[in-house]
Amino acid sequence: LDNGLARTPPMGWLSWERFRCNTDCKNDPEHCISEQLYKRQADLMVSEGYRDAGYEYVNIDDCWPAMERDKDGRLVADPERFPSGIRALSRYMHSKGLKLGIYEDFGSKTCAGYPGSEFYMQIDANTFAEWEVDSLKFDGCNSDPKDMPYGYPAMSFFLNITGHPIMFSCEWPLYEIMHKLPVSDYRTIAKTCNIWRNYVDVEDSWDSIVDIINMYGKDEGNFSAAAGPGGFNDPDMLVVGDYGLSYYQQKAQFGMWALFAAPLMMSNDLSSIGADAKALLLNKNIIAINQDPLGNQAIRLFEVPGSLSVWVKKLASGGLAIGILNVNNQGTPQKYTTAFSDLGFTNKNGYVAREAFENKLLGKYALDEKFTIYVDPTSIYIMIADPL
Ligand code: GLA
Repeated sequence: LDNGLARTPPMGWLSWERFRCNTDCKNDPEHCISEQLYKRQADLMVSEGYRDAGYEYVNIDDCWPAMERDKDGRLVADPERFPSGIRALSRYMHSKGLKLGIYEDFGSKTCAGYPGSEFYMQIDANTFAEWEVDSLKFDGCNSDPKDMPYGYPAMSFFLNITGHPIMFSCEWPLYEIMHKLPVSDYRTIAKTCNIWRNYVDVEDSWDSIVDIINMYGKDEGNFSAAAGPGGFNDPDMLVVGDYGLSYYQQKAQFGMWALFAAPLMMSNDLSSIGADAKALLLNKNIIAINQDPLGNQAIRLFEVPGSLSVWVKKLASGGLAIGILNVNNQGTPQKYTTAFSDLGFTNKNGYVAREAFENKLLGKYALDEKFTIYVDPTSIYIMIADPL
């Protein structure tokens, strides 16, 4: 979407995967969906260096509004959990150099049963702009997805004419896929949305991560080609720092999401995150791959099912980020021997290669020269190759 936003994949934090629809502030005040939760995570984003690493959006998900609109049909935040209101929360974020994102739904109700935007799209767009909200995630529960090719562009238009820049996050292709409808042309989706979900919700498990990666590897309809400045496919949140993935698997998710030019939206509790996960999320070299100005999405060159797959993302420098993912869980690193010519690369002088996580120089390789790397079980190896 050509609204000046998301020229590189947006980065930030989103409450859904980690905090869900916990509204029980009486018994669980620390973790319930409330203004306190977003403020606390925002404070940590600043004090722990996430903001300075590029994470800027603090995004509210489902379960924030009161169950009823006001007498003018406007949404209101739940008065007990958001006593200061959303306008105060966006001011809070802006005062910290952060941005606030909010959530609504294209249908009659959100997925968790809160009031949806059906018949209220323009009113809601205006409300979000008045609240100076910086992004909108627009879900698709309780709607007829056949209406989405008209409805999502309408909402995009209503947001645009408010004059307030709002990064637009859509779930349009996901609902078409779930309802077994033909998926709208990704180029049209990319003109309407800044980011768009096209697969099921991420869960806190390695199975979920591998499933999403496989879907992106199949790249049905060549959706990878729609990614670029202003619009990116969204494989959903990062679960790095949560319960379900080993350190090596977290490395794989973070590395793959970087290669995918995916939005990097953490869904974790920054107050209790481990040092390893934090170091991963702040890894400058991996973030740089994700934020590369070309906005190219890695495609899978080939895979040995159940074992290694090789992925390539083109970089603005003319170099390549090459990911070698190992989904084999036999407990020993997999050996992989290849040459740049075997991978289909053609620079006749060869390449200089670096390992990306540690930014370690590996050396110069002639085009046909064989080299060997080892990929840890259920993890990833990423190499940056620059033509010589
Ligand atoms: C859907 C979305 C999720 C989340 C929930 C909230 O499942 O795909 O990302 O927003 O709704 O209810």
